[in-house]
Amino acid sequence: MKIKSYLFILLLLPSLLAVAGKPVKKSTKVNKAPQSMEQFIDNLMNKMTIDEKIGQLNLPTSDGAVTGEIKSSGVAQMVCDGKVGAILNMKGTKDIRAMQKLAVEKSRLHIPLIFGLDVVHGYETTFPIPLGISCSWDIPAIQNSARVAAIEASADGICWTFSPMVDICHDARWGRIAEGSGEDPFLGSAIAQAMVKGYQQDFSSNTDIMACIKHFALYGAAEAGRDYNTVDMSKYRMYNEYLAPYQAAVNAGAGSVMTSFNTINGIPATANHWLLTDLLRNDWGFKGFVATDYTAITELINHGIGNEQEVAARSLKAGVDMDMVSSAFLNTLKKSLEEGKITIDDINTACRRVLEAKYKLGLFADPYKYLDDSRAKKDIFTPEHRTAARKLATESFVLLKNDNNLLPLQRKGTIAIIGPMGNTRNNLPGSWSVATRRNEYLSVYEGLKQMAGDKATILYAKGSNLVSDAKYEDRATIFGNKLGRDNRSDADLLKEALDVAAKSDVIVATLGEAEAMSGESSSRSQLEMLDSQHALLEALLKTGKPVVLVLFTGRPVVLTWEKANVPAILNVWFGGSETALALGDVLFGDVNPSGKLTTSFPQTVGQLPYSYNHLNTGRPMDKNGWFQKFRTGYLDVSNDMLYPFGYGLSYTTYKYSPVTLSSSTMNSDGSITASVTVQNTGAREGDEVVQMYIRDVVATSSRPVKELKGFQRIHLKAGESKTVDFTITTDLLKYYNENLQHVAEPGEFQVMIGTNSEDVQTQSFRLE
Ligand code: BGC
Repeated sequence: MKIKSYLFILLLLPSLLAVAGKPVKKSTKVNKAPQSMEQFIDNLMNKMTIDEKIGQLNLPTSDGAVTGEIKSSGVAQMVCDGKVGAILNMKGTKDIRAMQKLAVEKSRLHIPLIFGLDVVHGYETTFPIPLGISCSWDIPAIQNSARVAAIEASADGICWTFSPMVDICHDARWGRIAEGSGEDPFLGSAIAQAMVKGYQQDFSSNTDIMACIKHFALYGAAEAGRDYNTVDMSKYRMYNEYLAPYQAAVNAGAGSVMTSFNTINGIPATANHWLLTDLLRNDWGFKGFVATDYTAITELINHGIGNEQEVAARSLKAGVDMDMVSSAFLNTLKKSLEEGKITIDDINTACRRVLEAKYKLGLFADPYKYLDDSRAKKDIFTPEHRTAARKLATESFVLLKNDNNLLPLQRKGTIAIIGPMGNTRNNLPGSWSVATRRNEYLSVYEGLKQMAGDKATILYAKGSNLVSDAKYEDRATIFGNKLGRDNRSDADLLKEALDVAAKSDVIVATLGEAEAMSGESSSRSQLEMLDSQHALLEALLKTGKPVVLVLFTGRPVVLTWEKANVPAILNVWFGGSETALALGDVLFGDVNPSGKLTTSFPQTVGQLPYSYNHLNTGRPMDKNGWFQKFRTGYLDVSNDMLYPFGYGLSYTTYKYSPVTLSSSTMNSDGSITASVTVQNTGAREGDEVVQMYIRDVVATSSRPVKELKGFQRIHLKAGESKTVDFTITTDLLKYYNENLQHVAEPGEFQVMIGTNSEDVQTQSFRLE
C-alpha cells in the first residue's frame, strides 16, 4: 500500500510542482468549442471508450469529505485515469486548479471536471439558514443571497452548488426542515425560482455557478420526521402540496437535480423511473443532469432492491446520470453492459448530459474559468456582502411575542445576556456553514457590546449547558463544531447567571438549539426547550426582571410554556455570519422586525405533521372550538397552532381595511383584483408582509381550507397607508384533480387577505 502511494506521488510530482509553481496557462490541449454543443459532444463521445464514458458519471468526494462517510478514494489517480466527472467538497483555487490540471493534462481526452459543494446559505459571508431566509418573504433579497453565494463560491473555484433545497416539510421533528422554505408550496416555489436565478443566469460569466435542485423528491415528508425515513403519499397530495417548488426550480433553468434518499410509494427515489424520467424529463422538460445524493445508489442495497450491480443498473435506467460517492457506476456498469442489463444508449445518454453541463458552464472553452486567483481576496466576505447578509438576517427574525412593548431595548442601563448561545461563535451561523470564517464575526455578547457602545453595560453568563445529558450534546454535533460543554455544576452555572441577572435591568435569554441539532441526521422526538435551558429560563423569570427570550433554532420549537410565561420572544433561527449585529439592529430597534413564519409552531409535538393548508375533513372543528365529540380533534389540545403560518409581530401595528374585489364573478380567461388598504397605525416605520389566501369552496375533489396565492412585502412609514392589489387569474385557481389534470373548476372561491394565515378578512367570487 505504502509503496503504491509513494509511486503514485512520484508520478504526479511533475504536474503538482508545475501547479505549485508558475501560474497555469489556459490549456492548449483542451478542445476549444467552435461547433455547436451537439457537434462538439458528438465528436468527443466518438473518441471516448466505455470506461471513459462511465468515468464521467462518477462523482467522488475529495479526500477531505465534509458529509457522510469519509472515503479514501485516491481521487487524483482516478482523475488521471479518466474515471471522474466531477468532485465534491473541494474549495480554494489552488487545490481545485491542481485537480483540474490533472484532468486536463493527464487524462487521455483532457475533459475538465466540475467542482461541487454545499453552498446552501451563503459561502464565507453566511446568510441565515434557508428556513430563516424564507421568513423574510423578501424574494429579491433571497435571490441576492444566492447571487452573493455564487460570486463568493466561484471566486474560490467552485462552479456547482448543491442548492436550492426545496423540500416542503410539515413536520418539525425532521431536522432538515432547517434547510428548506417551510410548509408552503407557493412561497416555496417563489423562493426556489429566486435561488436558481441568483446562482445561475448567464454562464458566460465566471460568477454564475450551476444550481442543483434537491432532494428530488418528497424528502421532507419522511415518516415521523425521522431522517431518511420512508415516504408514502398519494399523487393528489404530491402534486398539490409537494412538487411545485421542484418544478419551479426546473422552470427557472436549474442545471442539475439531486435524488433523495427516501422511497416514494415503495420505490426509492434514486431508482425511480417514474420520478426521474416520466415526471422530471417527459412532463417537466428538464434538460440538465441528475446526480444522486451521497452514496444513495449503494443505499439501495439496504432498501432491499438488489445487489450493487443491480441497483446501479436500475438507477441508470431510471434516469440517474451521476453517482455521488458510492462508486457503484464505476464498479459495475461495464459488466452490466456486457451482460446486456443496460445498453450503450443508457450510458451515452447520461454521459452526454454530464458533458453538456460542462459545455454550458464553459469548461471546455476554459477549464480554468473559475480559477482566477485574484478574485478570492476581492470578492469574498466583502463589506457589501456582509451588509446584505446582515439585512436579510434582520428580516428573517420573527417576533413572536412582545408584551407591553418590552422590545426594543433602549441603549441604557445594564443588559444581561444569559444562556449557552450568548457568547459562542462556533455555533452561530447555521447547519451548512461550510466556508464560514468562524473567528471573524462576533458572538451575540460581543456584537451587543459593540452596538451598545458606552451607553449601556452588557454582561454575560452562560447559565446552563445546552442540555443536561452530555451524550445528547455530543450527538448534536457536526463537522466538529461543538457548543463547548462547561464542566461546572448546574448549580454553579445558575448561581453565576443569577448574580449577573441581579446586576441588570433586563435579561436577554439566548437559548435554543445548537446549530447541529437541526439539519441532516438531526431529527428530534421532543420539541420543547431542552431541560437545562428550561430550568434556567424559569429561574431567570423568577428574578422578576423583564426577560426577552432570543431563540436560536433550526425548526419550530414547542413554546407553549414560554408563550404563557415569557413577556417577549424573538425567534432568530441561525442567522449566518452576521447574526450578532443583525440581532443588535433588531433588539435595539434600529430595525423593525418583519419576519413571518413559514412553518407553523405547534402547541405540542403530538399535533404533527401539520400544515395550515390542510383539508377540511367531513367533521371539522368549529372555529376557535376546542373539543367537540365526534369532530376532528384531540381530547387534550385544541387544533390551533401556537403560532400559525404567516405569523410575526412588529414594533408597530398595522390596520387592514376590508377586502374589496373588482368583481364578484370571473371568466375563465379573465382576472379580478383583490385589494386591501394597510395602514401603519404605530409610531415606527416598518415592513409588513401582506398575505392572500384562496379557498376553492366546492370542487370535484376536497380542497384545502386555504392556500397562499399571493404576498407582498410593503414598507410603511408611521401613519402611512398603502393599497395592495392582488391580481387573481385562473392559473391561481388551478389544482391537480384525481386524474392529475391541472384544472380550475367553476364555482365559489373565497379570497382571504391578512397579516397571517389565521388573521384574515374574507370575500367571495364565482368562477364562471
Ligand atoms: C446531503 C445533501 C448534500 C450531500 C453532499 C448529503 O448527505 O443529503 O444535501 O448535498 O450530502 O454533501
